[in-house]
Amino acid sequence: MRKKIIAGNWKMNLDLQTAAGLAKDIVAHEGSLKCEVLLFPSFVFLESVKNILNKSKINIGAQNCSHRENGAFTGEVSAQQLKSLGIEYVLIGHSERREHYNERNEILKEKLKIALKYNLKPVFCCGEPKQIREANGQEDFVLNQLKESLFGFSATEISNIIIAYEPVWAIGTGLNATAEQASNMHAFIRKQFAKKYSDSFSAQLPILYGGSCNPSNAKELFSCPDVDGSLVGGASLNASDFLAIIQASQ
Ligand code: 13P
Repeated sequence: MRKKIIAGNWKMNLDLQTAAGLAKDIVAHEGSLKCEVLLFPSFVFLESVKNILNKSKINIGAQNCSHRENGAFTGEVSAQQLKSLGIEYVLIGHSERREHYNERNEILKEKLKIALKYNLKPVFCCGEPKQIREANGQEDFVLNQLKESLFGFSATEISNIIIAYEPVWAIGTGLNATAEQASNMHAFIRKQFAKKYSDSFSAQLPILYGGSCNPSNAKELFSCPDVDGSLVGGASLNASDFLAIIQASQ
């Protein structure tokens, strides 16, 4: 039985005070949380937010890590540095990184390699842009993302991975995937992992949905058998919306 996971990707939003306030508001409700909750603040707030989450069961992750181990890479943050802060999770392959920072499948594979080396748990994001969905090419597109970045790893290596299916056309647009679209893609992804690895590996793999998830559509999305929770963007910046999404999952 897979536990539901609700993750908040704060992206490049909030300042130190509002990030700390949001974390405190969520921690205040942790007694009622039955699902796993993950928060992904900006790098600069990781330590402060981590201190707030410290004794709670809410976990923290970074939004990115370098594909290099260490050295002269000004402005980058390494997996090892994140681990040294006590960070447990890292987002890899978010569509905004793919689109604005030209992160290709091959680079994402390097990021996965280094994240796994330092025992970070990757949340690997995949999903098709609008024109691919319109041409009904979403399955081939997502399969290629999985093949080129992930499928080179052994089941043991990626046993701590979480998949987040985030159709690009649904991110920040208010236009979420329908329950049917999410269901179909999540079932497709699970089938690919069953084929590549095994049924038992695939059965325990958490697959989150991301893209305009909000308190009004969360329950329906979470009722799909292969949707194990959500990677939430905009609605995670507001404690009451984020907590309502958490409620919808339990
Ligand atoms: P929105 O929930 O704002 O659409 O963003 C989703 C997302 O990109 C989470 O990583």
